[in-house]
Amino acid sequence: MERFGVTASSRRPKERKTRACSSAGPFCVILKMFLLTASYLETKHVEAGDVVAMLGSFAILPCQTSTSDRLSQITWQKTIKGKAPDDVFLTIQPVIGLKYSNGKDFRFEFIGNFNNKNGTLKLSNVTLKDEGSYTCIFSLFPSGTQNKVSKLGILVPPNTNLMSYTPIEGNEEVPLATCTAAASKPKAEVKWIIGSLEGKVREEFNETQHANGTTTTRSTLVGKPGREMNGQLVKCVISSETVKEEILETIIQVLYSPEKVHIIERSKLSLECMSEANPNATLIWSRSGQPLPPSVQVVGATLQFPSQSNDLSGLYQCEAKNPYGSKHTYLLVHFSTGNCTVAWVLTGLLTFPIIVLGGVYFYKSRKLQSFWPRLQGETQRDATRDYSAAQPEGEERPPETVELRFSD
Ligand SMILES: *[C@@H]1O[C@H](CO)[C@@H](O)[C@H](O)[C@H]1NC(C)=O
Ligand SMILES: *[C@@H]1O[C@H](CO)[C@@H](O)[C@H](O)[C@H]1NC(C)=O
Ligand SMILES: *[C@@H]1O[C@H](CO)[C@@H](O)[C@H](O)[C@H]1NC(C)=O
Ligand SMILES: *[C@@H]1O[C@H](CO)[C@@H](O)[C@H](O)[C@H]1NC(C)=O
Repeated sequence: MERFGVTASSRRPKERKTRACSSAGPFCVILKMFLLTASYLETKHVEAGDVVAMLGSFAILPCQTSTSDRLSQITWQKTIKGKAPDDVFLTIQPVIGLKYSNGKDFRFEFIGNFNNKNGTLKLSNVTLKDEGSYTCIFSLFPSGTQNKVSKLGILVPPNTNLMSYTPIEGNEEVPLATCTAAASKPKAEVKWIIGSLEGKVREEFNETQHANGTTTTRSTLVGKPGREMNGQLVKCVISSETVKEEILETIIQVLYSPEKVHIIERSKLSLECMSEANPNATLIWSRSGQPLPPSVQVVGATLQFPSQSNDLSGLYQCEAKNPYGSKHTYLLVHFSTGNCTVAWVLTGLLTFPIIVLGGVYFYKSRKLQSFWPRLQGETQRDATRDYSAAQPEGEERPPETVELRFSD
């Protein structure tokens, strides 16, 4: 307040009163006569219209008049939030030139032309605090003063963000992804494109207004996290007047325990174990009940037999494990020495271990031939036959047989 210069303070009351005149009736005229002793002066109040500027950019505050009167001074005053109204911040005179007052804000640059009665200003590095109304006052002779008011509005683009959570599969509704358009002016709109998640999730919308005039818009996708949601792409569309539509994308993440374990025959001597899980499962091969024979190698998820040797026949197991659970599948391997045919019998029973132990016994005692038929309630089925040789379309496999593809 002590910055208030003598020139500014002496001018202030006059200007405030002349402004008040713009809307007052006969009383105004009297007041004017009283104030402006030289002659009858008329005050015109012209709305110069709205000026909008993007935060951080510049704004042009127009101020022109086409009168042929003599111009002695252009005065700029502003009324912004949180400050005294009609604050004179700049005067322009022909001899003295520019005179900044009341804070000396050099972001205001005179880009008009005094002789042309053009008092246009450029305000750079605009901030939200610059929002308000700006009045330029022409001091004219003999007509008096002429005001032009520009309302300056600041646009703020949103800070956008799309975040996805990594919930664990479950039956409780949890947030899956949140799209945020933060601190924008005017407020932004947030919409979702959720593709295959349609009907499985709902949107929770939330809006916060900040003291500085900006608004944060947020929308959260909420749903019961299922493994089928894992890996699904969702998009968030953010639109506002300030920036062109922005589309953010994220992949929904759901953590879940290993799915059914699949064993794929890569070749006659190698088998690959697979199971879907998030995070990826660790796959552990073992020979049920015994350590793996030293000649059998595990390379990643693949079990590799050195040869079709009869003593490598037996029950193998692949276990898929992650922090959320584990699953396993047993595999009965029989290398028959005679005609070099290979048979894999593949099962993935949850209740299997007990039967399998029996199976191993049967296998050892060459009773396995009747093992599968009994399990399936069928008869006349050869359990140790080569599946690669005979797998007619539609023929039933052993119960819970996991996917099995033969390389030839
Ligand atoms: C506007 O901001 C830039 C970067 O902060 C600065 O270099 C420049 O001097 C500022 N301009 C004015 C007129 O204040
Ligand atoms: C006043 O000055 C501004 C900035 O230089 C310019 O854009 C505008 O055209 C001028 N107005 C007139 C009527 O010459
Ligand atoms: C407005 O206020 C919000 C909340 O305090 C803040 O995050 C944001 O940066 C502010 N915006 C500007 C342009 O100052
Ligand atoms: C998980 O497994 C998939 C399929 O094998 C693979 O593409 C992906 O890179 C793995 N991810 C990690 C983190 O190891």
